[in-house]
Amino acid sequence: MISQKEYKNRRDTLAKKLSNNSIGIIYSSTYKIRSNDTEYPYRQDSNFYYLTGFKEDNSVLVLVKTKNLTKTILFVQKKDEQLELWTGKRQGEKQAKKRFSVDKVFASNDLKKRLIEYFVGKKTLYCDLSSKDKRVKKVLDQASGIKTQKNIIHYIREMRLVKSPAEINLIKKAISITRDAHHSVMRSKKKGKKEYELLAQIEYEFKSRGAYSDAYISIVACGNNANTLHYIKNNKPLIDKELILIDAGSEYKHYASDITRTIPVNGKFTKAQKKLYNLVLDTQLEIIKMIKPHVNRSELQKIAVELLTKGMLKLGILKGDYKKLIKKQKYKKYYPHGIGHWMGLDVHDPAPYINYDNNEIALDKGMVLTIEPGLYIDKDDKSVPKKYRGIGIRIEDDILVTKKGHDNLSKDIVKTVKEIEDISFNLLCKSKALAVTAPQAK
Ligand code: GLY
Ligand code: MN
Ligand code: MN
Repeated sequence: MISQKEYKNRRDTLAKKLSNNSIGIIYSSTYKIRSNDTEYPYRQDSNFYYLTGFKEDNSVLVLVKTKNLTKTILFVQKKDEQLELWTGKRQGEKQAKKRFSVDKVFASNDLKKRLIEYFVGKKTLYCDLSSKDKRVKKVLDQASGIKTQKNIIHYIREMRLVKSPAEINLIKKAISITRDAHHSVMRSKKKGKKEYELLAQIEYEFKSRGAYSDAYISIVACGNNANTLHYIKNNKPLIDKELILIDAGSEYKHYASDITRTIPVNGKFTKAQKKLYNLVLDTQLEIIKMIKPHVNRSELQKIAVELLTKGMLKLGILKGDYKKLIKKQKYKKYYPHGIGHWMGLDVHDPAPYINYDNNEIALDKGMVLTIEPGLYIDKDDKSVPKKYRGIGIRIEDDILVTKKGHDNLSKDIVKTVKEIEDISFNLLCKSKALAVTAPQAK
């Protein structure tokens, strides 16, 4: 749980970054239409949530800063008995004022009127200048008298780079739910089942353990389907002797997890699959070992590229001179993506990768990133020995940077060839923290 004190501290930190005589405005998410008059499930805007912990739509956070003094004002939906009958209870101004440590709470309907008053004498307006939200356009029109406009999102994103202990606990919880889901499908997958059956099982495990949602659309890709990086059709049968790449992560109290495992349909890796799998695994383990403060993410990618290229040369997937292969980026055909990304309230957390001087931001204590090398060999790639064609492998874990090194937060999710084969045949020792925990009573 994130305390109200922590949310308040975040608002105070943000306020310190704003110039005197300024105003900052951050909007909640809006409902998104799925079809006609039905909506996608509501998900609060991550930046708004980061600063408030407030889950309702149609709400706005306003920071009014005069000389070094900031007032925080939350605008929320008015109580409305008739509407609440359909869409559920609202906090309303009174309750929100009691629960959220802001200076004032007003009804959202009054925002425009209040802004007229707040805008007087202000020199800078901070809001999400990159947003396509109509409300932002409207407020920019209303604030046309304020000389300078700045993007408030940059400041919030910077703050989101380093996670607090409370945030790390929520990420850990999301990962533990994801662990149980991956282990559950590792035990039950078999030929003839469909990819979407595994997906349904993953979603069941997420929801029954209290994860409201997936952190992103899951990928359950058998055989060559894994070579489509964003394969989300998930509608093909599982074929004997093929591998299934499963990239699925739960979201718990708005915090993401992002885990990929690649497992054999029949529980046993073929010799060729094992060679390719161990190349990806050894690479991943080496990269994770490198993680500590002051290391650059680009260095991790560089070493991953070198290890994968060397390995592919050994297996005859790439041919030629090692240095030339690296220089010409020949690995890109088989390893086309990056080594990983920040993770937090968003699966691809939009924290910055470079600082204001255009220098890369090095890893530091409290940052969380994924490490996810992969190799993808198309079934029709005649340049590769036949035994490796139609195999796509990615292994992805979520890593916390610590003071002296790192903590692999998803280390409990089975990963070696032996562990995966053992869990498939129910041979894995339950004491290895791998036992599936019981679903949470709701
Ligand atoms: N699941 C999204 C990613 O791995 O980046
Ligand atoms: Mn990822
Ligand atoms: Mn992923």
